[in-house]
Amino acid sequence: MIFTVAIDGPAAAGKGTISRAVAAHFGFAHLDTGALYRAVGVKGGDPVAAAQTLTPEDLARDDLRTLEAGQAASRVAVIPEVRAALFDFQRRFARAEGGAVLDGRDIGTVICPEAEVKLYVTASPEVRAHRRWLELGGDAAEVLAQVKDRDARDMGRADAPLRPAADAVEIDTSELSIEEAVARAIEVVRARLA
Ligand code: CDP
Ligand code: CDP
Repeated sequence: MIFTVAIDGPAAAGKGTISRAVAAHFGFAHLDTGALYRAVGVKGGDPVAAAQTLTPEDLARDDLRTLEAGQAASRVAVIPEVRAALFDFQRRFARAEGGAVLDGRDIGTVICPEAEVKLYVTASPEVRAHRRWLELGGDAAEVLAQVKDRDARDMGRADAPLRPAADAVEIDTSELSIEEAVARAIEVVRARLA
């Protein structure tokens, strides 16, 4: 069976948490596409060359989840040649036999416009920044500023900007527990599979 669940949305909305839970529930593979851009951002050197030569070791670095890596990712993510270099890998993953969940910014709009399920997971900037601060600590005002800065860059870029696909189901997690958010996502996928 070929079945793609595309999960897009801004930083710290809960995309990864929902994606992992949906993939585990249905036995689908999961790809965190943000990790690809984070790995390119922290690798240094020419970002296009970094994207073209990404290795499993690059994706296993333990510094990928830092605030700095997030900022570096969003700076290389505006470069069309970087996005192009990462396209085929994501596309093949999405349409591989057995079902796949991919989370990122452009999965439902660019990588897999024909995805069987598209979710747009969002939450207020304040809630998202607070969640990131709980994970990473640091100065709370600085974390909020970085979240807003990254949102603006991701939504404002010319190539593959972050926006909900026309046929995406929106899940605002601002007032939802993880369990509630996951249950909504599973229900949307279950209804489409039936
Ligand atoms: O992948 P993305 O950056 O969108 O978010 P995440 O890493 O899945 O979630 C960010 C943080 O928010 C994690 O620490 C989650 O445990 C927490 N969280 C959530 O995902 N959903 C909620 N409804 C409440 C909290
Ligand atoms: O976990 P969080 O939502 O904070 O970020 P992420 O999903 O790891 O993505 C890091 C950055 O990579 C984003 O801010 C985007 O600039 C970029 N990205 C993208 O352009 N397209 C994707 N499909 C995934 C990430």
